[in-house]
Amino acid sequence: MLFSNIAFLCLGVLHSVWFAEGSGDVLELGDADFERRVPEHELLLVEFFAPWCGHCKRLAPEYEAAATRLKGTVPLAKVDCTANSETCRKFGVNGYPTLKIFRNGEEASMYDGPRTADGIVSYMKKQAGPSSVALHTEAELDAFVNSFNYSIVGFFSGSDVLGLAEFLTASSALRDSFRFAHVTDLRIGFKYGVDTECILLFRPPHMRNVFEESVLKFAGSLSTSTLRTFLRDNIFGLCPHLTTENKDSLSSKDLLTAYYDVDYVRNPKGTNYWRNRVMKVATQFLSRGLSFAVADREEFHEELEEEFGLQLSDGGETPIITIKTRAGHKYIMQEEFTRDGKSLVNFLEDYFANQLKRYIKSEPVPETNEGPVKVVVADTFDEIVNDSEKDVLVEFYAPWCGHCKNLEPVYTELGEKLSGDSHIVIAKMDATANDIPPNYDVQGFPTIYFAPARQKDQPRRYEGGREVKDFISYLKKEATNPLVFGNLRDDL
Ligand SMILES: *[C@@H]1O[C@H](CO)[C@@H](O)[C@H](O)[C@H]1NC(C)=O
Ligand SMILES: *[C@@H]1O[C@H](CO)[C@@H](O)[C@H](O)[C@H]1NC(C)=O
Repeated sequence: MLFSNIAFLCLGVLHSVWFAEGSGDVLELGDADFERRVPEHELLLVEFFAPWCGHCKRLAPEYEAAATRLKGTVPLAKVDCTANSETCRKFGVNGYPTLKIFRNGEEASMYDGPRTADGIVSYMKKQAGPSSVALHTEAELDAFVNSFNYSIVGFFSGSDVLGLAEFLTASSALRDSFRFAHVTDLRIGFKYGVDTECILLFRPPHMRNVFEESVLKFAGSLSTSTLRTFLRDNIFGLCPHLTTENKDSLSSKDLLTAYYDVDYVRNPKGTNYWRNRVMKVATQFLSRGLSFAVADREEFHEELEEEFGLQLSDGGETPIITIKTRAGHKYIMQEEFTRDGKSLVNFLEDYFANQLKRYIKSEPVPETNEGPVKVVVADTFDEIVNDSEKDVLVEFYAPWCGHCKNLEPVYTELGEKLSGDSHIVIAKMDATANDIPPNYDVQGFPTIYFAPARQKDQPRRYEGGREVKDFISYLKKEATNPLVFGNLRDDL
């Protein structure tokens, strides 16, 4: 008893010492000095933490070790948000730990690297290098642009020209997404037709093709934002290689994707064989608002299965073609991809003529559905949840989710209590096995929505408590008609 108390005490003291004193090489910043001290550093990593947070405690020794190893290269700092809420609020910290990279006092990006000492050290070392590599010879230029990645090179006539300074500022802001280099002697760019100061975007050699330029010139007046726009608009070209890494930057487009064995390392020839066939067709549909990509079927097999119900074996050797629009509408090309491209042309013509049937992932419609909680699947969503005469409370759940399991008896009891009310439907849908309609936003489970009668275009998220009484009091307030319990009218 006595011993365990002592042990407990020591632990408590240790923890508070660990966090309270700027132990070791991590700078401690707070409301009083953050704004003054952060701009002192060209590059700075800041951890926003709370002393009670488990992930923060686990990170602490790694962070400390990384700070020691990075001493003299990149400083690491931390802010205790429980004591410095003003700073944390200013930088939008809403979870712990949050790690952000600052450059010359400005928030530059989120730190999304590993959370081990080794990982932090190598990530931040890379960040500390120049944002744009200085190239001195034609050979260096060739080596830089013949890389596996896109390259952006600024060609300047000297090292003291204004354009170079602008370019370096822009590259420093955009370095997380793009590779930059510059030369200060225009002759080095002669081979690429450079005769005046300019910025060129080079596609990597393996992505070059006969359908588009391999080298693009930035036109317009240079600033970080004009360069960013130019790169965003042009980096992907006619038919980029979609990867798990870049897919988020393509998700805001209406995108046709050809899935097959895309492998630029082991099978560049086969990879470009099909890509060229897709591109050839793509050129006929330019400027109609659809983007194109190729992707490795294996890399995306989980998404193919989850989003399109497709198996790895579907399609055999030839590409599987899908379209996903930014509104979340999905289409699958049913015909096999033919080498002459005809089937793809047909598919696209049907798509633009609105002739395609949307693919909607749905569980089978249940044979009976008489329980107190109605089972909804994607195919019956319109019929049950969109029933314009009824108020519908619909729960989106995942079979593995603990909170959903806890809610189940409550939800069933609610359904039973209201089973005599013909104006109210208590319903649930397995959100992992059915597509969720676009006007419902489901990020976590369970997510509950109330779709009032005659206002099905405006479902409202239920944010109340998870007891029967909470649901009842919500429905009493929101329901279109007075609630009916059992068979008795409730006019309270
Ligand atoms: C290309 O370079 C950018 C910027 O350095 C980097 O973020 C990205 O991961 C690289 N992509 C590939 C495929 O190497
Ligand atoms: C439900 O109705 C709304 C409003 O009319 C409509 O926008 C939505 O597409 C419908 N949902 C389904 C799944 O049919």
